[in-house]
Amino acid sequence: MADAADPSDPPPTVPAPSVTPRRDGPVVVEGDITLVAPDGTTTECTGRTFLCRCGASAAKPLCDGTHKRIGFTAPGVAPPRKPGP
Ligand code: FES
Repeated sequence: MADAADPSDPPPTVPAPSVTPRRDGPVVVEGDITLVAPDGTTTECTGRTFLCRCGASAAKPLCDGTHKRIGFTAPGVAPPRKPGP
């Protein structure tokens, strides 16, 4: 039988999600996120989520692999931000 949690223990930390554009492919989000549709419908995503950035997925906003078939090309990382004013 597991011990009960000590109420004085700090809550477990959850790492912030990371966002990585893949070369010639989707944007990979690692971590727990909530996808919010234009109509307000939400979908909880855990682990890795692959978001389409080629615009051709039939499962938008998720990647369905179509980027390979259409020969989508894009850099693997976002360009560095220009310094602000
Ligand atoms: S990035 Fe994979 S289908 Fe668009």
